[in-house]
Amino acid sequence: MRIQPLLLAATLGLSSMAGAGAAMAAKSDSCAHCHGTDGNSSSGLYPSLAGQTKEYLYRQIMAFKEGKRKNAMMSPSVGILSEQDAKDLAEYFSSQNMLRSGSFKPDPALVDKGKKVAEEAQCAACHQPGYKGLNEFPRVARQKHAYIIKQLKDYRDGARTNDDGVMSATVKSLTDEQIEALGHYLGSL
Ligand code: HEC
Ligand code: HEC
Repeated sequence: MRIQPLLLAATLGLSSMAGAGAAMAAKSDSCAHCHGTDGNSSSGLYPSLAGQTKEYLYRQIMAFKEGKRKNAMMSPSVGILSEQDAKDLAEYFSSQNMLRSGSFKPDPALVDKGKKVAEEAQCAACHQPGYKGLNEFPRVARQKHAYIIKQLKDYRDGARTNDDGVMSATVKSLTDEQIEALGHYLGSL
C-alpha cells in the first residue's frame, strides 16, 4: 500500500510520452488495483466507477484531493492528479458499463423493504428514475451494496460531509436496518 504513490508517479510519467488513449489507460492503471480494470470493483470496500456520471466522479476526485472527503485507502491516490487528470479519469470511467456483480446474492425480503424505504424517502427524485444518476446526482443502481451501506451510515453519522447537507438530511432518521435494506435494493438493480 505504501508504494502506491510511487507506482502512480511511474504510470503518470509514462503517460506523458504516450498518445491520448494510452495515456488514459496508464493513468487509470493506478486505480485498477482497487476499482477494477474496467471500473467494476471486485470488493464491497471499493465503489465501482463504471457508468457513474462524469460530473459526480470529477467532483469526488477533487473532494478527495482537497481533503473535503477523506479515506485512508483513497486519499493517497489523488494527490498527484491535476485537475485535467481528474476530468480525463471521470470521462474515462463514466463511459464504461457497470456490470452486475456475480457474487452478490441480494436478500429478497431486504430488497422489498429497501424499495419501500426508497419510495417513502423519494430517493429517485434526485437519483433519477432507475437510480441511474444525472450530473452531480450519482448513479446508485447496481453499486456495491456494502459500499452503499457504508456511505449512508457515513452521511448519517457525520463521517462524510462533502454533500452540502443534502444526503445527511435525507438519511438522518434512517435506522441501520433500513440502510441495510436500501443497500440490498439498490445493489440488486
Ligand atoms: C488502494 C485502493 C484505492 C486506489 C488505488 C484508488 N481508490 Fe478510489 N476509492 C477507494 C476507496 C476505499 C473508496 C471509497 C472511500 C469511502 O468509503 O468513502 C474510493 C472512492 C473513490 C471515488 C468515489 C466514488 C463514489 O461513488 O463516490 C472515486 C471517484 C475514486 N475512488 C476514484 C479513484 C481514481 C480515479 C483512482 C486512481 C487515480 C483511485 N480511485 C484509486 C480506494 C482506492
Ligand atoms: C435532494 C436530493 C437527494 C435525495 C432526496 C437523495 N439523494 Fe442521495 N445523493 C444526492 C447527492 C447530491 C449526492 C452526492 C453528494 C456528495 O457529493 O457527497 C448523493 C449521494 C448518495 C450516495 C453516495 C453515492 C456514492 O457513490 O458514494 C448514496 C448511496 C445515496 N445518495 C443514496 C440515496 C438514498 C438511498 C436516498 C433515499 C433514502 C437518497 N440518496 C436521497 C442527492 C440526493
